[in-house]
Amino acid sequence: MEPFVVYSTKTGNTKKVARVIAKELGVKAQGAKEVKSVPKGAPLIAGSGVYASRISGEMKDFLEDLPKVSKGKAAVFETSGGYNDGKNVGIQQLERSLKQKGYRIVGRFGCSGQMFRIFNRGHPSPEELEKAMKFAAGLKKSF
Ligand SMILES: Cc1cc2nc3c(=O)[nH]c(=O)nc-3n(C[C@H](O)[C@H](O)[C@H](O)COP(=O)(O)O)c2cc1C
Repeated sequence: MEPFVVYSTKTGNTKKVARVIAKELGVKAQGAKEVKSVPKGAPLIAGSGVYASRISGEMKDFLEDLPKVSKGKAAVFETSGGYNDGKNVGIQQLERSLKQKGYRIVGRFGCSGQMFRIFNRGHPSPEELEKAMKFAAGLKKSF
């Protein structure tokens, strides 16, 4: 079954990562707001930026609307400024919501993202995008 890649972005960083992951998996990345439904049985890969220590409201809505599954597999990713005491709060929140919906988490990926055009300039970097690609390649074995 084809995996389903969904992301939420405010300034484009998470979209870049989502596109790399989706390309590696041979699918198209979908913006959370546009998604009508996730094909039944599809492994889900969900990613968001982190804003004031939270995933986006858009991604939160998407996750809340997601139907429960019995044996789903999912992977999560975030881009962030790295301002939460080294904790990947986005990953944690995505993970918690998906577990509540019956998904088993088989992969996690996080990298930094440029913020306000000043901080973390140039991130996600080519190296980080390469890591995202390898993360996606690894997921193929888990799905
Ligand atoms: C309004 C705003 C609030 C942010 N708050 C946090 C935060 O609390 N913790 C953090 O690590 N990064 C924070 N960041 C940095 C973003 O998580 C980072 O730039 C991320 O890559 C944004 O993803 P996007 O480009 O897909 O929207 C914030 C960025 C913005 C614009």
